[in-house]
Amino acid sequence: MRPAFSAALAKAVKTHLLSGAEIVTLLQAGGREAEALFRAADEVRARHLGDTVHLRAIIEFSNHCVRNCLYCGLRRNNRRLPRYQMAPEEIFVAAARARAEGYRTIVLQSGEDPRYQAAELAGLVRRLKTELNVTVTLSLGDLPRASYRELRAAGAGRYLLKHETADPVLFARLRPETRLPGRLERLTWLRELGYQVGAGNIVGLPGQTLRALAADVLLLKRFAVDMAGIGPFISHPDTPLAGCASGSLELTLKVLAVTRLLLPRTHLPATTAVGVLHPEGRARALRCGANVIMSDLTPTPYRRYYEIYPGRTRSVVEGRGSFAWWQEELAHLGRKVGKGPGRP
Ligand code: 5AD
Ligand code: SF4
Repeated sequence: MRPAFSAALAKAVKTHLLSGAEIVTLLQAGGREAEALFRAADEVRARHLGDTVHLRAIIEFSNHCVRNCLYCGLRRNNRRLPRYQMAPEEIFVAAARARAEGYRTIVLQSGEDPRYQAAELAGLVRRLKTELNVTVTLSLGDLPRASYRELRAAGAGRYLLKHETADPVLFARLRPETRLPGRLERLTWLRELGYQVGAGNIVGLPGQTLRALAADVLLLKRFAVDMAGIGPFISHPDTPLAGCASGSLELTLKVLAVTRLLLPRTHLPATTAVGVLHPEGRARALRCGANVIMSDLTPTPYRRYYEIYPGRTRSVVEGRGSFAWWQEELAHLGRKVGKGPGRP
């Protein structure tokens, strides 16, 4: 092991603070270094959060999007994707089904779809709170501050707004018409409004450096996010990034592990995308610091059309309840399922 690697790892475990250069040193880990990094992240997770894994039900209620992100299959210029919009009543029924299975947190996610007015979504959130008594997480992209406020007042407790990449040049190139500072300002609004805030980034984007990934981790640290979604880039054939190499599982796990070292108590999902890269991806992520699973409960007629990247729906658990399936799966990994909402 490189002496600089050992020093950075020891410092991270002890202080949960690293410089960008030290993070890069950790991200360069190979072979035995990578094993040591993963083990350290697993230990930090166990010490600070125990063996509990929180299960979340995610309902992707609309795949319409006014944005044109170069990496994403939902981008407005992708005319090959059949589009759908679930009615609020349908969303409620899907959420009720998730609640009956055992889920206590419902994540409502969509593309940026102006068809859904804040007032309408606020009504749905209120119903979910009063009739199902669930924690509601929203992931609806960039909205005006007033909409975030209205949804918060309706009872939404958490908001996921991935910063995607902390490299401002890459951000502007990959997310036309949007800029990194605007995204970060929204994260600040969400925090001010009293949400538990989730951010996160994509690993292995074309043109992304280790330095940029270090900046991602430092951004998550600076914002002291309550949650961070960290997943690999997966190339989609119907986007301008068709033919670009996808991100690697190893690098994604290293970014996840370093994030765990710097943010010992933040919720880190074993993302769907790591599971798409490799059948063991999610299990490995759970041993590299992850402590959350987001399970897809979008009704089947729609599920296959939420194609952010290819191969997504193949990894989905079908048949008898996914909650019971995950409970069993997690027991094999020596982990238990969280009963409460997980940090209410
Ligand atoms: N590969 C991996 N993740 C992607 N996302 C969008 N497109 C891709 C892709 N090709 C992620 C983004 C976004 C979320 C909805 O999906 O991080 O926040
Ligand atoms: Fe829309 Fe989000 Fe996809 Fe960008 S990443 S095109 S905002 S769904």
